[in-house]
Amino acid sequence: MLPAKPPVHESVLDAIGGTPLIRLAALGAGLAAPVYAKVEFLGIGGSVKDRAALAMVLAAERDGLLRPGGTIVEATSGNTGIGLAIVGRQRGYRVIAGVADKASAEKSDILRAYGAEVVLAPTVVPMEDPSHLYHVVRRLAEEIPGAWLADQYDNPANPDAHIRTTGPEIWDQTGGRVTHFVAGVGTGGTITGTGEYLKEVSGGAVTVVGADPESSIYGGGDGSPYFVESIGHFVHPDTVEDRWPESYRKEVVDVMEQIPDRESLVTTRRLAREEGILAGPSSGTAVAAALRVARELGPDDLVVVLLPDSGRSYLSKVHSDAWMRQWGFLEESQDEASQARRQGRGQESQEGEPQGLRPLLDGAGPVVAVHADATVGGALETLDGAPGGVAPVVLARAARPYGVSAIEVVGSVSRDALVAALADGSAKPAAALGALVGPALPTVGVGQSVAEARAALGATHPGVLVLVDGRAVGVLPRTALVG
Ligand SMILES: Cc1ncc(COP(=O)(O)O)c(C=O)c1O
Repeated sequence: MLPAKPPVHESVLDAIGGTPLIRLAALGAGLAAPVYAKVEFLGIGGSVKDRAALAMVLAAERDGLLRPGGTIVEATSGNTGIGLAIVGRQRGYRVIAGVADKASAEKSDILRAYGAEVVLAPTVVPMEDPSHLYHVVRRLAEEIPGAWLADQYDNPANPDAHIRTTGPEIWDQTGGRVTHFVAGVGTGGTITGTGEYLKEVSGGAVTVVGADPESSIYGGGDGSPYFVESIGHFVHPDTVEDRWPESYRKEVVDVMEQIPDRESLVTTRRLAREEGILAGPSSGTAVAAALRVARELGPDDLVVVLLPDSGRSYLSKVHSDAWMRQWGFLEESQDEASQARRQGRGQESQEGEPQGLRPLLDGAGPVVAVHADATVGGALETLDGAPGGVAPVVLARAARPYGVSAIEVVGSVSRDALVAALADGSAKPAAALGALVGPALPTVGVGQSVAEARAALGATHPGVLVLVDGRAVGVLPRTALVG
């Protein structure tokens, strides 16, 4: 069959949207319902966010918020910034993107390549903190004359873009056969707009499925940080009032699938290897949710899952074996390539050290964590249960049902240091830990070797924190690693 005639565009802005559906033949094998991926990285800026960017700029011009010579400011994990950079520069504006400092470096580089200015700011601080990205971009928009904050989180033009483009495209491409639409929720623009349109046009027959990182608050998680970028909602434990974006109208979502990081990341890697689709981690979350849903469906159903961006921005993250191992998402025994390598060098593995750190963790108790605001006396009590008298200091005040995420570890504390400070009178039991908080323990993935854990320990650290699926599962004190 000849492919449809590719379109000819007079402007890059006309090339936004119009992305293909590709059937997930390998991952969907054996399922009665076909699963089609809407591959958004085939759009001009490489992500679904081009659609929202174009719609928001056109609406701001129409409403007189953006005038010639103006500046576009936005808080963005990267992709909306890329869309705004393309659209904004084409239409003659200065573009400033505020990027979360945990987003991948590649995204900032791409922004700069398109001519945007990048301002990095933290998001793992309470919302009330003036250094939070949310406040940083608002200040910039107030201070720069002629600046306009695109505000994808609360801008109705964001979901509108999907009511006008993504939804109709999917309806058209499937000839009205789509029964389930699956997408992740970041600002919520994609799922809200596309979901609303599909429900409306189908007379309510289309089921809308949200794909959420397991610990994200949208799907009912504990709000602790996770490793999939750009979707879900993390809540800092000290945040007083949490706010959800207005672009997300949660009544449009019928089912929320909570997807653990490992399932998202492994699915992202399978998409590349088995389907030839190199996508980002939020695509893995969405596909994992789509497969869960499709398993329950029949041949008359048709699932469309939206893949927001390409894996090229994450070659140093999800698509890197070293990164996967470093955060405890990959263990030697699960990795086919290294299994083959080990078989090829049987001798080395016989005389070598145990593969991975699991054997050393056997028998270690649960991770004992001290809150950053604890008192010296309180921390000492907590340390009673800590192996080797060392514990990570974390942001979480209460126990997290999903465990301590490596992302919220801010320091470490040791019993010896506290006892010494109390003995020499430099600290009182009721005082805050303050300067007694030492540097964060180095983290090692459970699949890393003992030699790597020793290297991480260096000359000074009292122990290492061992991670499984990005969560702390144990502390290996120095004594457990070196003689
Ligand atoms: C890679 C990626 N996935 C998913 C999303 C979420 O899309 P939305 O903001 O429309 O909910 C975004 C948004 O920036 C994104 O960049």
